[in-house]
Amino acid sequence: MSQNKLFTPFTFPSSGKKMLNRIALAPMTNLQSHEDGTLSDDEYNWLVSRAKQNFGMIITCAANVSADGQGWKGELGIYDDKYLQGLTRLAKGIQAYGSLAVVQIFHGGARSPQDLISTQPWSASAHIMPHAKVPVEVRAATVEDINRVIADFVTAAKRAELAGFDGVELHGAHGYLLHQFLSTATNHRTDEWGGSFENRNRLLRTVLQKIKAVVKKDFLVGIRISPEDKYSFQGIDFEESVALSKLLAQDGADYIHLSPWEATKKPEKYSTGDKALITYFREAIPETPILVAGKIWTRADAELVIDLGADIAAIGMAAIGHADWPSLVKENTNEPSRMPFTVEHLHKQELSAPFIEYMKRWKGFVSGGN
Ligand SMILES: Cc1cc2nc3c(=O)[nH]c(=O)nc-3n(C[C@H](O)[C@H](O)[C@H](O)COP(=O)(O)O)c2cc1C
Repeated sequence: MSQNKLFTPFTFPSSGKKMLNRIALAPMTNLQSHEDGTLSDDEYNWLVSRAKQNFGMIITCAANVSADGQGWKGELGIYDDKYLQGLTRLAKGIQAYGSLAVVQIFHGGARSPQDLISTQPWSASAHIMPHAKVPVEVRAATVEDINRVIADFVTAAKRAELAGFDGVELHGAHGYLLHQFLSTATNHRTDEWGGSFENRNRLLRTVLQKIKAVVKKDFLVGIRISPEDKYSFQGIDFEESVALSKLLAQDGADYIHLSPWEATKKPEKYSTGDKALITYFREAIPETPILVAGKIWTRADAELVIDLGADIAAIGMAAIGHADWPSLVKENTNEPSRMPFTVEHLHKQELSAPFIEYMKRWKGFVSGGN
């Protein structure tokens, strides 16, 4: 076992950026931004309180790079200079406690509701969104849309750099636009942006390459991917994901962030084998840092994912329930208490009412919620 490894510092080899430990706050949407997408005090407090309590890296919620990529109300925006002031305040607030500040950037694609973006949502291919309350017709991206969104990702990354962030994380997971292009279920294009594996990953790789070409060498560019099918987001092949991680590493990705929802699991495709999902990636990209999230609740869970090949454990729900998760697991022999949490407890963990309301939708998280 990697005893104490969790609390040893970590340096990103490509950039020299240092983390004081191997604990990251996983990116989590919290609906606390102002209606126009600017930073609120509530969002600031939720994130900075985790920096203050020794999370080595804070990754923000998904922030939209284009106005037509917004996924929900209360989302952080990064598609205009009007966001710069709030983003600068946030980066400084996080870094004041020695944590790395990373903003997750994304475009919702088909998952951007029409009534929110006031235009028809678009994706790799035209389809009807099956899970929307009212079925939504999604149009296929034109080449102009594709070129525009690439430019928007690059501008957003530059804006994050200007705001003083240590890096950006491209959200290529969970069924949003970049994932929609990767997936055979949602990408049926016959041009250079669809079809073969090479064509389906062209959007993500182009965004990465173009960002790397314009940011400083020490600015981190990580990529989050869904390594295999999960929930309603289908069309991702495990072998392709491993191959994709190699290509992204060649393109200069500073880290790969896996989101299998259960960090220590085996791949579905090889569920009777003896290797954990993370280990396949570790072997494929030995030089590139790996983050992983999913059901990491205790120190032993986090140390196990490091043993299995991850460099950094990303903590999601346990960090919502415990603002002081790093010191709690370091100093206490008791495990952090489990959900459900009371509303009162969550307020003490620096969650505002809208975030607590949102957490009631996550099964079993809030006492008296779903
Ligand atoms: C409330 C909530 C919001 C989330 N929002 C995002 C998001 O904006 N971007 C993202 O990549 N993942 C998001 N996730 C997924 C988490 O980053 C994480 O991968 C997942 O919750 C599994 O980790 P856990 O079991 O430690 O919570 C969200 C999860 C939760 C619970």
